[in-house]
Amino acid sequence: MDTPFIFTMHEGLPRQGPGSNACTRKAFSLLAGLPPRPGILDVGCGSGMQTIELARTCRDARITAVDVHQPYLDDLARRAASAGVGERVATLRASMESLPFPDASFDVLWAEGSIFIMGFRKGLKSWRRLLVPGGSICITEAVWFTEEPSPEAAAFWSECYPAMTTVPENCTIAGRAGYDIVATFPLPASAWWDDYYVPLARCLDSLRAVAAGDPGAEAQIEAAEREIAVFREHAGEYGYAFFILRKNR
Ligand SMILES: C[S@@+](CC[C@H](N)C(=O)[O-])C[C@H]1O[C@@H](n2cnc3c(N)ncnc32)[C@H](O)[C@@H]1O
Repeated sequence: MDTPFIFTMHEGLPRQGPGSNACTRKAFSLLAGLPPRPGILDVGCGSGMQTIELARTCRDARITAVDVHQPYLDDLARRAASAGVGERVATLRASMESLPFPDASFDVLWAEGSIFIMGFRKGLKSWRRLLVPGGSICITEAVWFTEEPSPEAAAFWSECYPAMTTVPENCTIAGRAGYDIVATFPLPASAWWDDYYVPLARCLDSLRAVAAGDPGAEAQIEAAEREIAVFREHAGEYGYAFFILRKNR
């Protein structure tokens, strides 16, 4: 089967979704009671900017980074080796829908910008078994910062991610899925621009040449341009939030 263009489009970028090393470090600092040599599973790791920052931040962590797209994993392995953390980072091609690990395999599960693929509720419920008792899960998710978004932002996101909701509503969902809320914090707009939209926008012209004649690929490029334009106008209305949660039963 051909690789979906959305994957190709994001190859070679610093990261494949909004986020920043400062936010990764801040979320990690909010975890308490980790054992020595904690085991961390990074789900939907992409090319692993956050994986490598976690490995740098927690010098004895062992990290397993999972994604469905092998070129991202190969890129991650190269980047981890040149950052000097390659020995503590393993990559595995697998789907987040059926993660091939026994129950209670990890102290921490990390997922930046990827749980939306399964949905916040379904992801939290299905990944919970992988955590040791009292284990933690750190997730970023797109959320509304306002109850009354502008018609343009509402129309765009109701098409792309109709399940997107607010931080309090996601906390309620997390509570019902068996987690205590340790902390949440919003990511700044710079986390969308610096390592994601700016490098992506720079590639769009050359990607347009690659996509020419393929209606599906051309539509993906137009969608990316529209997404960037909507964020430029409406960044205060929505964004990403970090959720730091602890398995509670
Ligand atoms: C928005 S990107 C986030 C990547 C990375 N965590 C980051 O913040 O840069 C979502 C990632 O999920 C991966 N992905 C998509 N479907 C997946 C699946 N079913 N199982 C595992 N990973 C998946 C994509 O390949 C992509 O790397």
